[in-house]
Amino acid sequence: MAKIAKFGWVAAIALMMVPLQGTAVKTASTLSGEPPLVIGHRGASGYLPEHTLAAYELAIEQGADFIEPDLVSTKDGVLIARHEPNMIATTNVAELPQFRDRRRTKTVDGVQEEGFFSEDFTLAEIKQLRARQPRAYRDQSHNDRYEVPTLQEIIDLVKRVEAQTGRKVGIYPETKHPTYFDNLGLSLEEPLIETLVRNQFTDPTRVFIQSFEVSNLKDQLTPLMAANNIDLPLVQLFDEFHLKPYDFVVSGDSRTYGELISRDSLRSFVATYAEGIGPWKRSFVMTAPVDPPVDTNGDGVAETKERLTGEVLPVIPDAHAAGLVVHPYTFRDEESFLTTDYSGDPVAEYKQFYDMGVDGVFTDFPDTAVKARQAR
Ligand code: G3P
Ligand code: CA
Repeated sequence: MAKIAKFGWVAAIALMMVPLQGTAVKTASTLSGEPPLVIGHRGASGYLPEHTLAAYELAIEQGADFIEPDLVSTKDGVLIARHEPNMIATTNVAELPQFRDRRRTKTVDGVQEEGFFSEDFTLAEIKQLRARQPRAYRDQSHNDRYEVPTLQEIIDLVKRVEAQTGRKVGIYPETKHPTYFDNLGLSLEEPLIETLVRNQFTDPTRVFIQSFEVSNLKDQLTPLMAANNIDLPLVQLFDEFHLKPYDFVVSGDSRTYGELISRDSLRSFVATYAEGIGPWKRSFVMTAPVDPPVDTNGDGVAETKERLTGEVLPVIPDAHAAGLVVHPYTFRDEESFLTTDYSGDPVAEYKQFYDMGVDGVFTDFPDTAVKARQAR
C-alpha cells in the first residue's frame, strides 16, 4: 500500500487527537509490563522471499516471538500465505506456460490490476509456483527455490520447532481482503478457525488474528470462535487515517481509520471486539519530507527522505487506556525506510518505539528488533 503522508489530513487528525509533546515523549511501558513482542513480518522477509517456510524459519531462528502469515484463498478453498491474491510480483507464475491462460484483469478493493490470482488456482497448481523476492533492492538469489506454503504447513513448522527446541512460537495470521474473498464464495474466516481448531493451535497466547477490515473481526470471527469454544485475541489494523476499511466503503459506513482510532472509539467500539490495534508507525509518529534526500548510513547513496517532526499522536496511551495492545507496522532496516533522526541505524528507531510503550513490532528484520530489545 502507498504510505505517503498526506499532510492536509494529517493536520486534521492531529487536531482531532491532541498531539503529545515534541521529541521528548515520556517513556512508557507495554500494557502487560513485559518486553515488546517481535513479529516476523511475512517471515524474515528482509532476507528471504516473503511468506515462504524458509522465511518463517529464519524469523524464528532470529528470535521472533511470532511469525506473520498473510492469508488468501485458493480456488479449492485452501488458505495459503500471500500478501495479495495477485501472485504476479511474488512468484514465477507469469513465466509458467501451463498458466498462461490464467492472466486476468480484476478489481481488488476498488483497484484494477492485472495478473494471476490465487482464487483461479487449485492448491495443486499453486504448488507448481515458486516464490520470488518482490523488492528489487533485496537479495534476489533465493528466487524460484521455495513453494507457496499453506496455513497447515506453517502450523506444522511451528509445531516442529516446538518439538525440537521447546520454543513456543506464535502465529499472527492476517485475513487479506475478506470482503473480496466473501464475494467469491471463498470466505477466509471459516477455514482459518477450522484449521486452528483441527490442529489444536488455539492457545490465546500464541495466536493473534488481524485484519484491516472491521466486520470480519467483529461479526464473523467473534461468533465463529464462540461456536468453537475458543477465544483468540483479535487485532484491528489501521491504514492511513484518511482511508476507510473496505467493508465500510461497501456498507456505506462513513467512519475513517482516523475516526476509528480516536480515544473514544477505541474504548467504546474497537475494544468491544478486539484485544489490540496495528497502526502504521508513520500515522502517529509524524514525519515531514526532507528534500534533497540525505545519505544517513554513509554508503554514498542518499536515500533518507523524511525526518521526524517531534509530533506524536496519543495512539499508544489511548489504546492502553482502552485495554488494547499496540503492534505498529512495518519496521525495515533499509535507509530508505528510516528518518534522518536515526543516523542510518534501524536499532535507534526500535528503541524509540519501545520507549513509547509499544507492545510489539511487525518487522522484516527480526534480528534487528531482537538486538534493539536486548540492548534496552
Ligand atoms: O499486518 C501488519 C502489516 O503487515 C500490515 O501491512 O500490507 O504488510 O500486510 P501489510
Ligand atoms: Ca500483514
